[in-house]
Amino acid sequence: MTEARFCIFDTAAEVATAVAASVAETLALKPSAVLGLATGKTFIPIYAEVVALYRRGGISFADATSFNLDEYIGLPQGHIASFRAYMDAQLFGHVDFSSDRTHLPGVTGDIELACERYEQAIANSGGIDLQLLGIGQNGHIGFNEPGSAFESRTRRVALTASTIEANTSDFPPGESPPAEAVTMGIGTILEAHKIALVAVGANKSDALRTAFKEAPSVDNPASALQGHGSVTVYCDRDAASKLV
Ligand code: F6R
Repeated sequence: MTEARFCIFDTAAEVATAVAASVAETLALKPSAVLGLATGKTFIPIYAEVVALYRRGGISFADATSFNLDEYIGLPQGHIASFRAYMDAQLFGHVDFSSDRTHLPGVTGDIELACERYEQAIANSGGIDLQLLGIGQNGHIGFNEPGSAFESRTRRVALTASTIEANTSDFPPGESPPAEAVTMGIGTILEAHKIALVAVGANKSDALRTAFKEAPSVDNPASALQGHGSVTVYCDRDAASKLV
């Protein structure tokens, strides 16, 4: 098994530059690349850096396709804390992505059917070339919470109390995140050709250590990545502090 490669930086800004460079490299090698995208606080400076690269003429998304990891169930369309709104604000609204090639999981109507169609759309696109991942304090990837099977596919999931609490600050005062979401499965994620997992801050250090320095276990979903041959972990010193 090839171990994950660790790229450890002094600052979150340097992490963002390195992750944006890996997106740029993926697009340079294959302009029609399929990108697996994540949301969350970690990715705000990363997408800002990607947009800066685009504005400098360094990259184009004109022929690219994207699939996001997850979306909340039950938010009104266009809700400011939906992951579609996040992606529009942080990335899609600033670059030349064709809107019919940016995908987020379907969360209305027949959700089970929408999940099957999401899997089919990923397969039809040829599979994900580069999957970006954050990590939850409980080790979740996407919204695959602890206990998720490593073979799991895109599906409806319940969020844990700790995830709901961690994401409450993304919502307007007085509102809290929905209790359910649709997420790509761990099995779906593991089919990506390359994976870039990003962790910034001391509050991710325990999850990162358990994920990569202990035996894989469903108790830490990110530990499933030990079974993937091409994972790069981009992190700052705080997140890396318990890796030794
Ligand atoms: C987001 C996602 C989540 C986040 C994780 C870390 O699409 O799938 O797994 O990556 O919760 O979130 P932040 O970056 O806000 O700490």
